[in-house]
Amino acid sequence: MNRILITGATSAIAQQAARHFAADRAAFLLVGRDPDKLAAVADDLRARGAKEVDTVVVDLLDLARCSRLIDEAVERLGGLDALLVAQGTLPDQAACEVDPELTLRELSLNAMGPITLLLRAAAHFETQRSGCLAVITSVAGVRGRRTNYVYGAAKAAVSTVLEGLRGRMGEAGVSVVDIRPGFVETPMTAHLPKKPLVATAASVGERVYRAMASGDAVVYTPWFWRWIALAIQLIPRSIFAKLPI
Ligand SMILES: NC(=O)c1ccc[n+]([C@@H]2O[C@H](COP(=O)([O-])OP(=O)(O)OC[C@H]3O[C@@H](n4cnc5c(N)ncnc54)[C@H](OP(=O)(O)O)[C@@H]3O)[C@@H](O)[C@H]2O)c1
Repeated sequence: MNRILITGATSAIAQQAARHFAADRAAFLLVGRDPDKLAAVADDLRARGAKEVDTVVVDLLDLARCSRLIDEAVERLGGLDALLVAQGTLPDQAACEVDPELTLRELSLNAMGPITLLLRAAAHFETQRSGCLAVITSVAGVRGRRTNYVYGAAKAAVSTVLEGLRGRMGEAGVSVVDIRPGFVETPMTAHLPKKPLVATAASVGERVYRAMASGDAVVYTPWFWRWIALAIQLIPRSIFAKLPI
């Protein structure tokens, strides 16, 4: 995996994953909205062995801009082997419930942008007959919890698109990787009370790297979230609706 486009490249998890690819001498196009943070990530990856690191400042709420990023990456990197989509925000569920525009913005960042990127990259990889499509989704997409269902709906939408793409891209030799972390200690969750079973960005980032390198399909990380997710899926609807989670 030599040429990688990472969107949301300043994400704590994505940075950790990118460090492993940098050690393999990968070339990167890093996309983010904050030029200073992006420059710091780029310097870090260069120092860790990256072959080449280019950056582009984009507000990933801009879907038209998302749509052009794949062609831009192909041009800047001289081709493309992998896409890692890492942007995300954890919506204020209560605020979303009374503000449809905020809900749309959250769905746009967490679902529409990633899906736009995936569909563009899929077309490129399908013609190329190789490539890796990877997104950091979430265990939150497994079921609509009453405290977090806007975020969960966005992540579920992306996971569903990934599943469909896996069917479409299988014969083209393209891997489609859905990484579903549980709670991870990152800036996105810094305002939340400490949760049990919390993972570090370093361990989840390393799992993202391994999943992409080996073309895994669906990865829960840490591993025990697979069984927690399964248990959550098995709770009858009538009981689930009463749970204050
Ligand atoms: N942390 C968790 O518990 C957890 C669990 C499951 C899944 N995830 C998912 O993991 C992914 C990475 O998140 P993280 O935990 O590493 O948190 P993070 O460090 O806060 O990363 C979030 C990333 O999204 C970027 N972003 C947000 N709005 C953007 C916008 N409008 N335009 C461009 N970039 C934007 C942020 O940019 P700035 O650096 O400029 O803010 C940052 O790079 C997300 O998709 C998240 O949903 C996280």
